[in-house]
Amino acid sequence: MGQADIQERQVIVRDEYGEHLIVATAGQSLLKIMQHNGVEVAAVCGGSMSCGTCHVRLSPEDYARIAPPTKGEIALLEGSDHYLEGRSRLACQISAAELPPGAILEVAPDE
Ligand code: FES
Repeated sequence: MGQADIQERQVIVRDEYGEHLIVATAGQSLLKIMQHNGVEVAAVCGGSMSCGTCHVRLSPEDYARIAPPTKGEIALLEGSDHYLEGRSRLACQISAAELPPGAILEVAPDE
């Protein structure tokens, strides 16, 4: 595996406008790379895990591959009408480097 393979990974994020193929750069949150790549996602609190608006959903398989959410993150997500247990996460709480290459994520519908 080359250096580029370790530091840069491509994932797919779906928003209401379509699919974005983005590079999950190490050292950044998923929210940051989504914002840098034009993904339509709300982030009212700016990434401090207090608003719950950066809600994304992963496949159950990818969800299980990354570090689990804290109780605080789950509590925020459970307040959403679009919460899916075992799939919903806050993009600001996911390290991009954790995402499996080829992971497919979707931005949850607005509340
Ligand atoms: S941006 Fe507010 S919780 Fe993620």
